[in-house]
Amino acid sequence: MRVAVIGVGHVGLVTAACLARWGHDVIGMDDDEAKVESLTAGNVPFYEPGLQELVTEGVDGGRLRFTGSRTEALDGTEIAFVCVGTPGLPGGAPNLAYVEQVGVEAAQYATGDLILVEKSTVPANTGVRLRQVIQREQARHGATHTISVASNPEFLKEGSAVHDTLYPDRLVIGAAIPSVAERVRDAYQPMLDGIGDHPAHDCPVVLTDLQTAELIKHASNAFLATKISFINAVARVCDLVGADVSAVADGMGLDQRIGRQFLYPGLGYGGSCFPKDVDAFVHLASSVGYDFKLLEEVRAINVGMRDHVLDLLRQELWHVEGKVVTLLGAAFKPGTDDLREAPAIHLARALVAAGATVRIYDPVAIPNVDKLVGDLGVVTFTDPIEALRDAHATIICTEWPQVRALTPADFSGSLGYPIVIDGRNVFDPATMVAAGLHYHSIGRPRGGPIPDAADAPAATTTMP
Ligand code: UDX
Repeated sequence: MRVAVIGVGHVGLVTAACLARWGHDVIGMDDDEAKVESLTAGNVPFYEPGLQELVTEGVDGGRLRFTGSRTEALDGTEIAFVCVGTPGLPGGAPNLAYVEQVGVEAAQYATGDLILVEKSTVPANTGVRLRQVIQREQARHGATHTISVASNPEFLKEGSAVHDTLYPDRLVIGAAIPSVAERVRDAYQPMLDGIGDHPAHDCPVVLTDLQTAELIKHASNAFLATKISFINAVARVCDLVGADVSAVADGMGLDQRIGRQFLYPGLGYGGSCFPKDVDAFVHLASSVGYDFKLLEEVRAINVGMRDHVLDLLRQELWHVEGKVVTLLGAAFKPGTDDLREAPAIHLARALVAAGATVRIYDPVAIPNVDKLVGDLGVVTFTDPIEALRDAHATIICTEWPQVRALTPADFSGSLGYPIVIDGRNVFDPATMVAAGLHYHSIGRPRGGPIPDAADAPAATTTMP
């Protein structure tokens, strides 16, 4: 198929590279000339495991091209995936101006029948609005091609985006006309059947209407965010009663209806999706007359985790003013250099505002840290030991393998004061405390035996 991808950011580029892998003739369109130039030369402008190889393969094989021209992108194209940005506006609603613009341009530049597929996360009813925009523009230009709208939300995670796209849990495709949804599914047929060295991946395909597909995406992300905030709230209670949240999550996760995934407490969720999507869902619900208080609380719990970690730090340091604090990890999660809504960046700003000197270690995100918060006087490191040397305390913000690999002696031998606040529950509390560290984590007893439970079996033991 001749396929276009409009907007080759994180989602768009992964989508384009995977479609090329499945044998389609793919053209990626972006307004950013420097990006188009770099991609045409085969260079991926951000970090995503496996993507560089896939882009090189597509470009060298002639199945993946890039352009800044809408005319070229839409010429002869049968399916165009819309992957433009939908940045959050101050009130929580996403800015859909770029999506609307694609509708206007599709009406102007399509040279035959076309299906516009929403991949960017958009609120329910965006597809309906997009259809109106297209019809209005077509009437204006006297255009007669059939331009349909479909929704095919992505569920890819940064850091495993290529894998998630090549081997998804499910495909969700919504359109007002079933044959349109089926045609979009055809684009995935090589993935479902297998092609070349890509094995068949016969995942469930949900064919539905436009609004339902849009809502599946919102509801999925909001539910995952809720799961994280739920376990964070449970962790706070665990701290108060002396229980171990890891064991609680293990016990809960054994119930197949609950599952163990996304029950890891800590500094909370960041990234380009969950914070923005939760806001957008609250806004959408409110705009149609439903007050989604549950999600407002999910958001509040998430933000509260950063305050909680700062409280732990103050308990140890008393004042942070004049102290040197090392943040281990900047990216919002391991495997990416993305700093959008990264808890570490929020902490850095709060600590600097409180008068602390902030150091940040990250194995891949330091260039982005320098760009984002360099003007705050934050000192950056690519060696964790150097970052810890003589600091008054450290907060673990991202569970990078390089952070997991540190030993208690690395902390005690490098830090000025032996204070470790583990915002991702990376280390074993008993081992850290035994090494003489003032160690705090989220929802787990601080080290020694739990009062009145010293003789109880290990909390994680599972009886057959
Ligand atoms: C997410 C969704 O998982 C994906 O389906 C959607 O398409 C885009 O948004 P992503 O933002 O890449 O993907 O990251 P994800 O791995 O889901 O993690 C999001 C955040 O939640 C990270 O900050 C992570 O540290 C945090 N998290 C995740 C937790 O705090 N606890 C958990 O148990 C899981």
